[in-house]
Amino acid sequence: RTIIPNGFSIRKIELSDFEDVKIVLAGLTTVGPITLCTYETILNYWNSVKLMNKPSEYAYNTSVIIDDHTHTVAAIGTIFVEQKIIHDGGLVGHIEDIAVNSDYRGQKLGKLIIDYLSEQGEKLGCYKVILDCDVKNVGFYEKCNYNQAGIEMQTRF
Ligand code: ACO
Repeated sequence: RTIIPNGFSIRKIELSDFEDVKIVLAGLTTVGPITLCTYETILNYWNSVKLMNKPSEYAYNTSVIIDDHTHTVAAIGTIFVEQKIIHDGGLVGHIEDIAVNSDYRGQKLGKLIIDYLSEQGEKLGCYKVILDCDVKNVGFYEKCNYNQAGIEMQTRF
């Protein structure tokens, strides 16, 4: 099991995390002018999508690491569980939108969130967990026990 260091806790994302989540995700990419109302609609949507064979479990699982002293979000990450036809109706976990608040980098919180999400994927029955990342983060993911497999392709609109 993933060990949470003293002074931090990890839990599912909540409505009250809105302001902190925008700040942490801005360290990853452009967040845009999202409103609290839209954020709430997204969390409600995520909570409406359940796993086909495990109706008490969610397809979208976004977790935050909280600094227990300041009650702020130190890191965030998501595992999305995809239902496939192949591999006997198998499940693939997709790790997405990982970010550690810049004040908290270098304290192993990035590795903690990846370990936690990977363990969640295994518990939910995924036969593999995959992610796309920039070349500059390959070393980080290798430290998290991920190996390079394939090449990301994209078309943008
Ligand atoms: N390259 C090589 N090694 C790295 C890197 C890197 N870019 N970043 C961290 N490491 C190493 C650390 O030195 C440490 O090694 P050690 O165990 O030997 O001491 C190990 O990886 C774990 O590092 P953490 O302290 O857990 O990393 P941190 O908490 O700083 O988080 C992260 C790393 C998430 C990449 C952070 O820098 C960040 O938020 N960056 C901006 C957003 C971003 O790029 N997110 C990832 C996008 S990819 C995706 O979302 C699927």
